[in-house]
Amino acid sequence: MAATRFADRMLAQLDELGRISESPDFLQRTFLIPQHKQAHERAAAWMREAGMEVEHDSAGNVVGRYAGTDPAAPALMTGSHLDTVRNAGKYDGMLGVIAPIACIADLNRRGKRLPFPIEVVGFANEEGTRFGSAMTGSRAIAGTFDPAMLEARDKQGVSMGEAYKAFGLDPAKVGFCARKPGSIAAFVELHIEQGPVLEQEGLALGVVTAISGAHRFRVEITGLAGHAGTVPMGQRQDALVAAAEIVQYIEKRCTGTPTLVGTVGMLEALPGAMNVIPGKAVFSIDVRAGEDDLRDLAADDILKQIRVVCAGRKLEAKITELYNSTATPCHPALMDAAEAAIKAQGVPTMRLPSGAGHDAATLAPLCPITMIFMRCTRGISHNPLEAVLPEDVELATGALLHFIENFKPVQ
Ligand code: GLV
Ligand code: MN
Ligand code: MN
Repeated sequence: MAATRFADRMLAQLDELGRISESPDFLQRTFLIPQHKQAHERAAAWMREAGMEVEHDSAGNVVGRYAGTDPAAPALMTGSHLDTVRNAGKYDGMLGVIAPIACIADLNRRGKRLPFPIEVVGFANEEGTRFGSAMTGSRAIAGTFDPAMLEARDKQGVSMGEAYKAFGLDPAKVGFCARKPGSIAAFVELHIEQGPVLEQEGLALGVVTAISGAHRFRVEITGLAGHAGTVPMGQRQDALVAAAEIVQYIEKRCTGTPTLVGTVGMLEALPGAMNVIPGKAVFSIDVRAGEDDLRDLAADDILKQIRVVCAGRKLEAKITELYNSTATPCHPALMDAAEAAIKAQGVPTMRLPSGAGHDAATLAPLCPITMIFMRCTRGISHNPLEAVLPEDVELATGALLHFIENFKPVQ
C-alpha cells in the first residue's frame, strides 16, 4: 500500500504518546507528573523537526512557533491538549497537537511561509483529572487563570501550587504566559467528535457550531461511621446512602431534556470497609447543556436536593464548585472557512454542536475560535476503545492544512 502523506507517521506518533502513561496497565497522563514532561518533550522534538521554535511556558504548555513573513502579524493559533483522563484513549486531545505539527512539517518541506506566524500548542490540564479544576493551560494563555485554582488538591492532598513547584515551575508565574489582546488572530482546534453523530451520518469531518458549558462540583457528605452489625437501620447516618439518593436524582433531573446531561463520575465511601457504615461520601458532579439556562437551572435543583436529602438524614454537606463555563459559539466566518477546507478535500460535511469541553472555548475571550470534528469509531471516547480510521486522519489533516494556508483574519 502506498505511504500516506500524513496518517502513517501521525498514527505512529499517537501510538507513541499513548504509551507515555503513569500506569503500566492503562493510559493516564495527568497534570504536572513526570509523564506530562515526557509527552511535552516528545511533542517539542517533533515541533523542532517540523521547523518550529519551541517554548515550554509558565503554565506547563508546550508551544511551537512557525515564523511568518510578517513577524508583527497576529498569529494563527492551533493545538489541543496532551493530558488525559483515567484509562483514556490515545486520540482525545493528542490528534489536535499531532495534526498541526504534520501541517507545519509539510509547509516547511515546501519552504512555504505564510504572512502570519502559526503557533501550535500542546495544552496542559484540559481534562482536570488530577485536581478537578480543568483548562489550566488554555486559561493561562487566554489571561483568565485565577490563582485561587492553585489551592485545588489531588487525592494525595498535594495542591496544584505544590505540584507546579515539584514540576519546576513557579506557581506565582503561571499567568505570565497570557497573550496580549490582538496578538492572536484566531484559534482552530481539530478534535475527535467523541460522539456518534458523524459516524451515523456517514461523514468523516464536521464543523463545530458551539461548545457546551459545564458546571462541576465536589461534594463531601459527612454522617457517622459505625458498626455494620450493631447500629439499627433506622438509627444510621449513612453518608453513602444519601449520595446514592442524590446520584439517582441527578439522573432523573437530567433525563428527558435535549442536550442536558449530568454525571457522577467519582464516588468514594469512607472509611471504606465492609463492616463499617460509611461516615463520609465524596463524589463529583458534572452538569452540561447546550444552553446555559438549562444547565444553571439543573445545577441549582441538584444543589437544593443535596440540602434536602442531607437535612432529612441528619448529615452535613460541603459543596465546592470546581469549574463553571458558559456555552461558547464558534465564529461564523471561521466556521465557513472550516467548511470550505473540508469540502476542498472532496468530502461532504455538516455542522454540529460539541457536548464536550475544549481548550478552544477557553480561548474565546482572547480571539475568534473554530473547531473541526473528526469521526471516531462508535462515538466512543474517554475509553481505551477510542479508535479512528487512517483515511479520516488523512482527510482531517488535509482540511486543517487547507484552513491554515487559506486563513484570513476575521472581524
Ligand atoms: C473534556 O474532555 C470534557 O469535556 O470533560
Ligand atoms: Mn477528554
Ligand atoms: Mn479533549
